[in-house]
Amino acid sequence: LKIAIIGTGNVGLVTGACFASKGHEVVCVDLDPERVSAINEARAPFYEVGLQALLEETVPDQLSATVDLETAVQGADVSIIAVGTPNTGSGIDLSQVETAALQIGKALRGRVDYQLVIVKSSVLPGVTDGRILPILENSSGRRAGEDLGVAMNPEFLREGQAVEDFLEPDRIVMGGSEERTWEIQERLFDGFGTPEIVRTTNATAETIKFASNALLATMISYSNEVGNVCSTVDGVDVTDVLRGVHLDKRLSPVLENGERVEPGFLSYLLAGCGFGGSCLPKDVRSFVDFGRERGVPMEMLRATLSVNAGQPERLVERIERRLGSLDGLSIAILGLSFKPGTSDIRETPSIPVARDLLGRGARLRVFDPVAQEAARAELGESGVYYSTGLSDAIDGVDAIVLMTSWPEFRELPRLLEEKRVTPLVFDGRRMLDRKSVAHYDGIGLGPQDERLDQLPDSTIDHEPIRKRV
Ligand code: UGA
Repeated sequence: LKIAIIGTGNVGLVTGACFASKGHEVVCVDLDPERVSAINEARAPFYEVGLQALLEETVPDQLSATVDLETAVQGADVSIIAVGTPNTGSGIDLSQVETAALQIGKALRGRVDYQLVIVKSSVLPGVTDGRILPILENSSGRRAGEDLGVAMNPEFLREGQAVEDFLEPDRIVMGGSEERTWEIQERLFDGFGTPEIVRTTNATAETIKFASNALLATMISYSNEVGNVCSTVDGVDVTDVLRGVHLDKRLSPVLENGERVEPGFLSYLLAGCGFGGSCLPKDVRSFVDFGRERGVPMEMLRATLSVNAGQPERLVERIERRLGSLDGLSIAILGLSFKPGTSDIRETPSIPVARDLLGRGARLRVFDPVAQEAARAELGESGVYYSTGLSDAIDGVDAIVLMTSWPEFRELPRLLEEKRVTPLVFDGRRMLDRKSVAHYDGIGLGPQDERLDQLPDSTIDHEPIRKRV
């Protein structure tokens, strides 16, 4: 099929490159001429694993980019809207989606055949049919169900694994309203293996997206709440507690041969310093606002957000209880991105933790393998030293706070041993063995560290997935 994709952010460009790699002819549209040139030169304008290789494989034969939306849409069988939907604090800003719909509609005036427009941007339930469809009808002079199809096809891509998630989807949710809207989407996704396909209405498709992210966020806040209460009880470690929870065979089924299946989502059922990123916090906030406007108080999801918002301060208070006043202390923050594998610092808990520590008089040495520059723009230079590496970051510090579970941070116990130093290591991700450093503390660990020695060795296996599904 010939596809025009409006918006070349993470979702739009990954979608375009993946469709192109499956033999579709894709034109990506963006307002930014620099981004367009980069794509036409097969240079990924941002880092996403596997994207660069896909661009090299598909540009220029299967994939090209342009600023000219009208020509791209006129030459396509399907147009996909993949522009941003930021939450401005007073709800989701739909202006980019609406502008894209208006321009697509105008471009379609010049054509006579049936056209399918797919909304891929995350929009709240009812928006595709209630707001986008009328804009498309009015600007194109077409009627949905006659010569225009309008579909909602949410994406479930994780940053850092977006290409893999797109090429090997676990599900494809196809919103639509009439046979052709689903049929054309099935042609689009032909060759993507045999994932479960949910054919449904646009409003259900929209809701699936928000409900999915709300579940992930809720699992994290549930784990953090359990962790917070564990940290008040001597001799309790949340990692052991949650391991015990994971072993419920309804969460990790035991196969006939005795092998246990540990679903990937169990990693959202671990305590830590909170969730961030461009999706989970924004989507949960939007879903809460949406429910409230409809008279549903969304109490559980509000609690999901408030547990998450409180996590950075809890962590800092715990460090202060261990060390006394933080004034004048030197503290290393390891990890600034919201999760490993990305330089994205949007809503990362590392920033509020850093600000709080600075506010209490600490001097910081921060380190992240890729997010250092992004963090510099947020945190500035005052009181913050941007380290050149892990070893440099921990030089002479009184405490180390692990904020992002970058695999290289597992080197920390070895490095501390080499340097013969014993600062407090506060594990905000519970990624180290609790006995691997002299002074260990972490989220969800009972208050008295002398009891730690009495605990048996941690039963948490850091690579616990025996068979991942
Ligand atoms: C999330 C969803 O996982 C995707 O399915 C969805 O498509 C995407 O939002 C979106 O709406 O666009 P992403 O924001 O990339 O993807 O991040 P995740 O990998 O889910 O991480 C979100 C938070 O969960 C992070 O703060 C991370 O620390 C935490 N997390 C992640 C865990 O606690 N455990 C994990 O195994 C992975």
